Amino acid sequence: MELKKGLEDIAIKETEITYIDGNLGRLYYRGYSIFDLAEFSNFEETAYLIWFGKLPNSRELKDLKEKLAEERNLPEYVVQFIKNVRKDANPMDVLRTAISMLGIEDESNKEELWEKAVKITSKIPTIISFFVRTRKNLDIIEPDSSLSHAENFLYMLKGEKPSNLESKVMDVSLLLHMDHEMNASTFACLVVASTLSDIYSSVVAGVSALKGPLHGGANSEALKQFMEIGNKDNVEEYIMKKLESGHRIMGFGHRIYKTYDPRAKILKEYAKMITKEKGLYNLYEVAEKVDEIGSRILGKKGIYPNVDFYAGLVFYSLGFEPDLFPTVFASSRIVGWTAHIMEYLKDNKLIRPKAIYKGEIGRKYIGIQERE
Ligand code: SDX
Repeated sequence: MELKKGLEDIAIKETEITYIDGNLGRLYYRGYSIFDLAEFSNFEETAYLIWFGKLPNSRELKDLKEKLAEERNLPEYVVQFIKNVRKDANPMDVLRTAISMLGIEDESNKEELWEKAVKITSKIPTIISFFVRTRKNLDIIEPDSSLSHAENFLYMLKGEKPSNLESKVMDVSLLLHMDHEMNASTFACLVVASTLSDIYSSVVAGVSALKGPLHGGANSEALKQFMEIGNKDNVEEYIMKKLESGHRIMGFGHRIYKTYDPRAKILKEYAKMITKEKGLYNLYEVAEKVDEIGSRILGKKGIYPNVDFYAGLVFYSLGFEPDLFPTVFASSRIVGWTAHIMEYLKDNKLIRPKAIYKGEIGRKYIGIQERE
């Protein structure tokens, strides 16, 4: 039996949801290029595509938009939890707990899994926004069903309707984070789903995995780097010091991509636009320089910017504080998590790998008196 640390290069399922070409830097959702979807599609349409396997017609899209809009509210006991939880709580802990609380009420087996998926997807922005407003001692902003999923998220966060650019940047950012085949958090969801536990427990496992700095937490670490560097003239020295001391450039490297992450390529363009609009262009120039120099040095090892590299800069420009970035990631990846859960359960197999035993066997038990 061969040891495969981190399950590197091990396939645990077949899928028709997402295809990643790590060498060419290409990403497809249900066969559609991420470049086309980012340019022409939107969050709701792409969520439909990932969940149901085809682009929706106008009636199907209208039905999904209506269902997402009508499910945005939270049960009162969840609102009370958000209003009373400590204000310095980690937002991913608040999200994880609130989703767990939603699961307590939703033990009904009447609904289809996809209906529960839509319900959780719809409520995540409300959980996040309600917590942000509460920790800032601001009134919570109730969801506005006339706005799109992305627009409503920003509206509930800031209390004002977003500009066209903010809406487009938010929509594309969410779309780009929607799925990525068998990443750590999706795998965590499937381990739980494979025991035939409930979808809320699976999603809680996904949120728990995504919180880690090697996965969904890298976006805030990447932004922290740009803020620490401060000016593009300091980049080369900063990178050399980091690498020489054995540290990693956050937002760089990927288990599958050995070239530039296509999502980073797309986000880079939007980061340039939104930082200009928000007076944060100096941070973009630092990021661009890290990208250029980091790629020159690490590219030889197949290490390039990944989705997190520019995502933090974009989320920050949209008004999210850094500790919220993983929750924004989760508000999109919920679609991929639930799509993979539904796909896996069609041909379920309990996920139970093995370990290679390295210890002794047959040791003789001795009483405590003899152990002194
Ligand atoms: C996401 O799986 C997904 O699809 C994830 C994701 C998604 O959409 O779900 O794409 C989202 O999580 C993106 C990744 C975000 N994480 C980071 O940016 C954190 C920094 N990156 C790394 O820690 C690392 O690149 C990983 C964790 C992303 C991937 O690590 P692997 O495949 O396990 O590779 P490794 O840690 O064994 O590193 C291999 C070599 C090592 O050098 P050697 O010891 O062989 O000499 O590459 C080096 C590492 O030191 N390396 C880096 C580096 N990442 C890897 N060196 C400097 N800077 C980095 N960022």
